[in-house]
Amino acid sequence: TQDAEKSWDDELQQLVETLPKEQGWSVSNLYLYQGFWCTALTLRPLISFQTHFQEFDSDVITATFPKCGTTWLKALTFSTLYRDRFANPLLTSTPHQLVRFLEQDVYVNNPCPDLDNICVYNKPRLFSTHVPYASLPTSIEDSRCKIVYLCRNPMDMFVSLWHFAEMLRDENKVLPTPSLDEAFDKSCRGIHAFGPFFDHVLGYWKATQENPDKILFLKYEDLKEDISSQLKQLAMFLGVPFTEDEEEGGVVEEIAKVCSFENLKELEVNKKGVDVIGIPHKDFFRKGKVGDWNNYLTPSMVERLEKLIQQKLENSGKYG
Ligand code: A3P
Repeated sequence: TQDAEKSWDDELQQLVETLPKEQGWSVSNLYLYQGFWCTALTLRPLISFQTHFQEFDSDVITATFPKCGTTWLKALTFSTLYRDRFANPLLTSTPHQLVRFLEQDVYVNNPCPDLDNICVYNKPRLFSTHVPYASLPTSIEDSRCKIVYLCRNPMDMFVSLWHFAEMLRDENKVLPTPSLDEAFDKSCRGIHAFGPFFDHVLGYWKATQENPDKILFLKYEDLKEDISSQLKQLAMFLGVPFTEDEEEGGVVEEIAKVCSFENLKELEVNKKGVDVIGIPHKDFFRKGKVGDWNNYLTPSMVERLEKLIQQKLENSGKYG
């Protein structure tokens, strides 16, 4: 009802007022909620997701920190999981339309959406999230649903995020423009949507150590280096390993090719239009390279970030 809606809005407003606040990059403010930074606009769908999500044991969720290769992971997971079912929807829909964000899409306009109708296929259902592991609905941890996490070198993540924020500002000149230096300083202090980055990565890293059958931890750089072996690992983890016939018939290579940066970037569907929160589809495809940070970060920035990487990740076993 309208009354319930109004009282929920008031409660949310009160909550926002109690949260630590920082100026964001391309959005006016970020709020520290449950130990991570998010926009006021994300808070409402996020809480709906945390409160109302009802998982099935067969669900699959792709999880990423923004700019770590979400679009690629969505395309790869969708193509692998449903490979026997379709002609190729990636030619007519963007990866973000095929695998929808829970907190940034599905729950944005409806606190209790019909999740079965939201997915392209129902068994298994496939969703996506940027929410840190510790803030996922607790039922996800208790269930048997699977999570595929994709991580990326923080230097490339930062450069990608900075360009992304820049592209968004281009379309929307009213927003303030932090310099690369300012943005870098904020990033090192963990102030970016869904940050701190290292807490995000370590949350999923620890979870995968404890429960490797539930959470697969992939790296953008490994996908770039050897996509076939990574796709085979993904298929195995999802419970749909490639058969010998498929491997001999070139199915793995075909999926890699369809999902490649070069292919997706040139598709009409990814060049035009905007997503549910108004972001142009084309902004999800920039360079798609490993090591672009070399072209942007100064030696002192690299030094600062390397120290941080060492400090944050030194106790994290083989990750690094
Ligand atoms: P760059 O800005 O370094 O080019 P996300 O999908 O999480 O928003 O991440 C976007 C980053 O992934 C961008 O990185 C983008 O170019 C890159 N990307 C998008 N699609 C890709 C693909 N199919 N293969 C490899 N990288 C891809």
